[in-house]
Amino acid sequence: MKLWRGGRLATLAGERGWGLVDDGALLVDGGRLLWVGPSAELPAQAAGAEVVELGGALVTPGLVDCHTHLVYGGNRADEFERRLHGESYADIAKAGGGIRSTVAATRAASEAELLAAARKRALALVHEGVTTLEVKSGYGLELATEARMLRVARRLAELGVDVRTTCLAAHALPPEFSAADDYIDAVCAWLPQLQAEGLVDAVDAFCEHIAFSPAQVARVFDTARRLGLPVKLHAEQLSDQGGAALAASCGALSCDHLEYLSPAGVHAMAQAGTVAVLLPGAFYALKETRLPPVAALREAGVPIAIATDHNPGSSPTLSPLLMLNMACVLFGLTPEEALRGMTVNGARALGLSDRGQLVAGQRADFCIWDGGHPRELAACFGHNPLIERVSQGVQGGP
Ligand code: NIG
Ligand code: FE
Repeated sequence: MKLWRGGRLATLAGERGWGLVDDGALLVDGGRLLWVGPSAELPAQAAGAEVVELGGALVTPGLVDCHTHLVYGGNRADEFERRLHGESYADIAKAGGGIRSTVAATRAASEAELLAAARKRALALVHEGVTTLEVKSGYGLELATEARMLRVARRLAELGVDVRTTCLAAHALPPEFSAADDYIDAVCAWLPQLQAEGLVDAVDAFCEHIAFSPAQVARVFDTARRLGLPVKLHAEQLSDQGGAALAASCGALSCDHLEYLSPAGVHAMAQAGTVAVLLPGAFYALKETRLPPVAALREAGVPIAIATDHNPGSSPTLSPLLMLNMACVLFGLTPEEALRGMTVNGARALGLSDRGQLVAGQRADFCIWDGGHPRELAACFGHNPLIERVSQGVQGGP
């Protein structure tokens, strides 16, 4: 048993508020939080626990980055330059660049090469406090490379971060297919094979005019449902395709991006309890001007999550803390909404209810920060105040 005491806890307990506990303590046993509260009210069972003094440091739940494309070959800095000269993300994709250029580099990379590159990226996230990390496939677009990406993603757990893997084979049309419907047939045939290898926690797709139609996404989701796999969707990023409403009608865990989300989409997500994952890194990097409908999401009671969307094209960031700041400055979230978005609501977007708040019974995943108030995490940018990350009760992670 281990006891952390004398810290300022931002528990995020309940539906709103920071849940601040000044001079708070966390009692941990077996990787779980056994008790959380004021140091002065410690229960008798804390006697004999190994003690860590927090010295007034700030403690928050561990960060959950619920949307990343962390495993890939190559980089796309050339496209950054092209966009600066006026080409759009969609134009570059239509000209054979974009996702397809990363597909070529990923197919050419060995498993060891992919792992070495992904490890460095994952370490950057971990060093800013990430304790749960979602990683998508989607740069293979052929069975062997999709499987290789997902295997690499799973191996990132060696870094002491809990990894969730999502199959995003329906990300773009690979060059060897000319008809999107034929490719969707192939994706539906691969899913049971990838699941049988234990590589898939959820299924995602890209619903967009440069990717797949709602009808094609519906076929992928139908296969996922038959396999008992939860679904999520890249929806309404560049245009309103009605993807969010479709995903919500399938009980999706989350819809992600959502700049072009319609009122009908908001309503459908609220009805289904689907999480809105907002991705300020992609909004910023693509110089998007259309904002996600934050006020409508709030009013409808749709939970909002924030993630890095790390990928080599639309969001090459490795800073979850910067995303907290951007969620506030660009999208108008409050610092509390932003932190909830990268903790409890990020967990919810992955179907996980055992983390994201500092309350008894949850996983002992937390971050110790050099700071006095949790709003400082969102207010600063380009600065990492992390002192220590605790994953399942282990300092630095197991
Ligand atoms: O989340 N929108 C689609 N997928 C990724 C970008 C992929 C890429 O450009 O490589 C995203 O923005
Ligand atoms: Fe994405």
